[in-house]
Amino acid sequence: MSGKMPNLLFCLWNQFVVFRYSCGPFISHSFPSISKVVLSMSASNEVILSGIRPTGRLHYGNYFGAIHHFLKLQEGDATCFYFIADYHALTTITERKDIYRQTLDMLRTYVACGLDPARSVVYRQSDLPCTAELSLLLGMITNIGHLERGTTYKDKFGKLQDDPRTTGNPLSYGLLGYPVLMAADILIVKADVVPVGDDQRQHVEMACDIAEKFNHRFGCEALHRPKAVGREALRLPGLDGSAKMGKSDNNTLDLLDDPKTVLKKIKSVVTSTEPLPLDTDSKDPEVVVPKLPGGLNVLYQLLHLTAPDEVFQDFLEQYRTGGKFYGNLKKTVAEHVSKFNEPIIERFNDPAINDDFIEDFLRDNAKKVTPVALDTVEGCREAMGIGRSLYRA
Ligand code: TRP
Repeated sequence: MSGKMPNLLFCLWNQFVVFRYSCGPFISHSFPSISKVVLSMSASNEVILSGIRPTGRLHYGNYFGAIHHFLKLQEGDATCFYFIADYHALTTITERKDIYRQTLDMLRTYVACGLDPARSVVYRQSDLPCTAELSLLLGMITNIGHLERGTTYKDKFGKLQDDPRTTGNPLSYGLLGYPVLMAADILIVKADVVPVGDDQRQHVEMACDIAEKFNHRFGCEALHRPKAVGREALRLPGLDGSAKMGKSDNNTLDLLDDPKTVLKKIKSVVTSTEPLPLDTDSKDPEVVVPKLPGGLNVLYQLLHLTAPDEVFQDFLEQYRTGGKFYGNLKKTVAEHVSKFNEPIIERFNDPAINDDFIEDFLRDNAKKVTPVALDTVEGCREAMGIGRSLYRA
């Protein structure tokens, strides 16, 4: 790629953002003079960071649990860093071709959902290799007992042990050290806020502990502890009626599902229960939806998330009066879900957003994050006594 090309592409990208974004009901942005926006530290100087593993196609649980929240955050004046955790994915992905493809496709989906490259810096974890160095340094002061008490680690270890295909000790150093690498991700950009779902909260707390221990041990302030943790995450039930939509449970509705697939998946939701009296007169979806049984719970939740409120209220009324309406409910949910997916699919498939384009965009963003990351690593090296890196000088 010639030296001029990235800039040209960046302009094209901005044009794309301005002219091509027809927003779905929950992708509500205006992009004022976006072509002039150059990312700089925000007025508030607050840094928000979150990461997501490239696990393949993004589903509604990812969208309403995380991406939807990221879109709202980028409207504020904090600096938002979001990255695709491809190093972390190596703890579970074994097919070498998948990791690159899934990372790029995930990135494309993020942008197709409305994550604005001019307002949020979206990067790939491995494009910041100094994260691996920080992880190594942090590993020197991290107690193994602390890591062994991690709930995600215990969970994954347990599953590996129960798997009949497992032979010998299935544990990798990477799996045990997962929270150390995650601490490096967070601390390297000096994040203030790390919005994660409940399942990742303990990892963020571990990052805070590691930072505190490091600063205390070396009598320094080299690591900045995140101030706040948390996100009002919505936990979407699975299409099989289970508590959580998750890729490994094979119960997901995906953002890139076409209308035929959507209809098939929605039809498969089990709705065997006749309407039961609800012990509330509330019309508030947040109050009513959790009271609905299994499959209906997910259908009404999806209706609430993708359809106008009148449609939700109409079906709530039908539930209260009883009768045979489940077929119609499913058809309506499928229609609204497909309408929601349509602009995302269209943007995902835009031929202008090809791999070269994404690669350039990643390169640009890695450049934006690198200075702060190097500053952190050099600070830690100094604090630990090995001094600055000659290689980088
Ligand atoms: N472990 C997170 C997950 O599985 C992904 C992740 C990696 C992350 N590093 C992070 C999230 C740093 C927040 C901050 O979802």
